[in-house]
Amino acid sequence: MKIAIIGTGYVGLVSGTCFAEFGHQVTCIDVDREKIDALQAGRIPIYEPGLEPLIAKNAQAGRLTFTTSLEPAVGEADVIFIAVGTPSSRRGDGYADLTYVFEVARQIAPQLRGYTVVVNKSTVPVGTARQVARIIAEANPKADFHVASNPEFLREGAAIGDFMRPDRVVIGTDDPRAEDMLKAIYRPLYLIETPFVLTTIETAELIKYAANAFLATKISFINEMANLCEEVGADVHAVAKGMGLDGRIGAKFLHPGPGYGGSCFPKDTRALLRIAQEHGVACRIVEAVTEVNAAQKARMVRKIRNALAGNEAGKVIAVLGLAFKPETDDMREAPALTILPALMEHGASIRAHDPQAMKEAAKHLPEITYCPSAYEACRGADAVVLLTEWNEYRALDLVRIQGLLRSPIFIDLRNVYDPQQMAELGFHYESVGRPSRPAGAAC
Ligand code: UDX
Repeated sequence: MKIAIIGTGYVGLVSGTCFAEFGHQVTCIDVDREKIDALQAGRIPIYEPGLEPLIAKNAQAGRLTFTTSLEPAVGEADVIFIAVGTPSSRRGDGYADLTYVFEVARQIAPQLRGYTVVVNKSTVPVGTARQVARIIAEANPKADFHVASNPEFLREGAAIGDFMRPDRVVIGTDDPRAEDMLKAIYRPLYLIETPFVLTTIETAELIKYAANAFLATKISFINEMANLCEEVGADVHAVAKGMGLDGRIGAKFLHPGPGYGGSCFPKDTRALLRIAQEHGVACRIVEAVTEVNAAQKARMVRKIRNALAGNEAGKVIAVLGLAFKPETDDMREAPALTILPALMEHGASIRAHDPQAMKEAAKHLPEITYCPSAYEACRGADAVVLLTEWNEYRALDLVRIQGLLRSPIFIDLRNVYDPQQMAELGFHYESVGRPSRPAGAAC
């Protein structure tokens, strides 16, 4: 099968590479000359575990190529995936900005040759695929094509595994031929008995939003429970375990923290609210989820301030982890971008370390001191805040950290460490949703 992928961002690059790994002939297209030059030279513009060797392998085998030009790949393709960005609109009203999607539709229309399936992989509001169909049909009335929606559920940092062993594949189209072609593309997944949800375009488009909003709901829910735990002296991890063992609830996505971030949950919950509003439907739960998430970040600022005796002015705070989650250099809507400016506005200075995201973070937070290691960040700091749970922060030399800090204050916003052990080590230790123990108290 010949595939053209338009947009070599996160989704496009991972999907294109994995389709090539399935054995298809894939051309990845992007308007960004620099990005394409880098990819042609074997340099990968994002940090994603396992992606680089997979790109190299498939490029070498001649199954994966990169170009800035739509021709001849679009004309030759059996299936074209649109995987360009759909950021929140700059109007700030929560709508997804579909400029890039529609622009691609206009550009590919005159180049379609023979029967082609045009697939939306970007997360787009319900109804977008039909609008894409209308644009193509208007621009090229002779085009023989159908549109489909095939949302992705990739997690950054685990995207290759998620693509190769997905929980499900969702295909939305009104045409049996398009459905067959998409099923053929994903044939290797049939062998591992992946469930396929074959449905209409609108349903497929909504599944993506509903799934992300539900996951965000789980996080906001457990964060509220964590806050309650702090007040009543309960342990949120035991609460989550006790809840999660009920198969109807499920154990995943019940980890409390500083609130969700990233390129999907914040943007998609906002977009879902707009879609609902446009159709006159109240989505009050999702609305609350977004409010709780914002409040959680503010609560984290207060937690840090309280640990610093109520005043961060003039204090140096070491921050471990800046990316919105581990195994990525992505800073989009990272809690660090809200929490750290709030502390700096009150006179704190920040020394930070992140294994991958410092370059990206420096674009947003230039006033921070970036340090080559977690230990360097802690040198002379009044407190340390663990903000992203990278594996290398799970086994820190805590005695060394204590020796580097001016005062042994450890604020763990990801609950990586054990409160009792930290107290025994002499830390003033704060975490999320677990009773904090005064230093020296063993139980
Ligand atoms: C998410 C979805 O998981 C994926 O299916 C979708 O396609 C895109 O959005 P991603 O944004 O890569 O993927 O990250 P994910 O691992 O889901 O985490 C999102 C955010 O939630 C992170 O900020 C993370 O720290 C937070 N989170 C996650 C929690 O705070 N608690 C949890 O229990 C899980």
